[in-house]
Amino acid sequence: MPAITATAPGKIILFGEHAVVYGRPAIAVPVNQVRARATVVATPREAPGTIRLQALDIGLDTNYGDLPPDHPLAYAIHLVLETIGLKEAPACVIRVTSSIPLASGMGSGAAVTVALMRALAAFLGHPLPDERVNHLTYDVEKLYHGTPSGIDNTVVTYAKPVFFTRGEDPQMLTVPQPFTIVIGDTGIPCSTAITVGDVRDALQEQPEEYEPVLDEIGEIGDQARSAIEAGGVGELGQLMVSNQRLLQQLNVSSPELERLIQAAMGAGALGAKMSGGGRGGNMIALVEPDITDKITEALQASGAVRTITTVVDDQP
Ligand code: MEV
Repeated sequence: MPAITATAPGKIILFGEHAVVYGRPAIAVPVNQVRARATVVATPREAPGTIRLQALDIGLDTNYGDLPPDHPLAYAIHLVLETIGLKEAPACVIRVTSSIPLASGMGSGAAVTVALMRALAAFLGHPLPDERVNHLTYDVEKLYHGTPSGIDNTVVTYAKPVFFTRGEDPQMLTVPQPFTIVIGDTGIPCSTAITVGDVRDALQEQPEEYEPVLDEIGEIGDQARSAIEAGGVGELGQLMVSNQRLLQQLNVSSPELERLIQAAMGAGALGAKMSGGGRGGNMIALVEPDITDKITEALQASGAVRTITTVVDDQP
């Protein structure tokens, strides 16, 4: 049996994080510069059914059967075996690596799951269609935080810019005029479970204050979609600034994110905002391609531990 490898990209949310959990539209794009990779190799000398799981980046090297069933990687394996209807897989080792920063809002959990499921299913002779991978990854995402919107697994599975509304089929965006985003990492872990939980509490306690904020974020998502599909990139910067102001009102930004956002704006970005769960993790800046270096330097001088430049387009 040949070794099988599958990969999946990281992601950023351009517009609509948090509001997307409550049915407002959001836009996310893949970040192909960082990827999760899973390779499955047969180990015929081991007893049938022995699946070894190696994720050395996170210090994991163990047998699938020894992991608790709610461990995300174990659960991903379980779902693949269940979907294929296999009681016992041929002995194999699954090696998982990822260059996607952990707990930074770049979808590393979803990408690892997608890569693992694709590689294992193909190894077992039953490659899974994207739609299936997407749904199964959503089930695993629920282990990370109870009420994921589904946007992370969707953009990572399809690896295309997506306009996403919870409960509806994802719509892939056309991007007639590609645009450049610089991502700046605060280096502070972002716990999506905590910020999503805090927004939920705030919404339950003061719906009259927070529902209108979510509505406004949703309207920005609609406007951003129109701007992207019309090739009107100039408009996006101001929409990012407006979206960030609303995220501040949801209390999911942080001084470190604000410092990087200010640094990018001061260096000439067209717009900037946090991206993902918030209170840490990444911010993004929309920039003219010729000032990418200047923005990167400004972010680094203001404490970014990592920067990534990515061009958003609709090509595979
Ligand atoms: C996390 O990448 C985006 C959030 O909106 C949560 C979710 O959509 O599940 C904060």
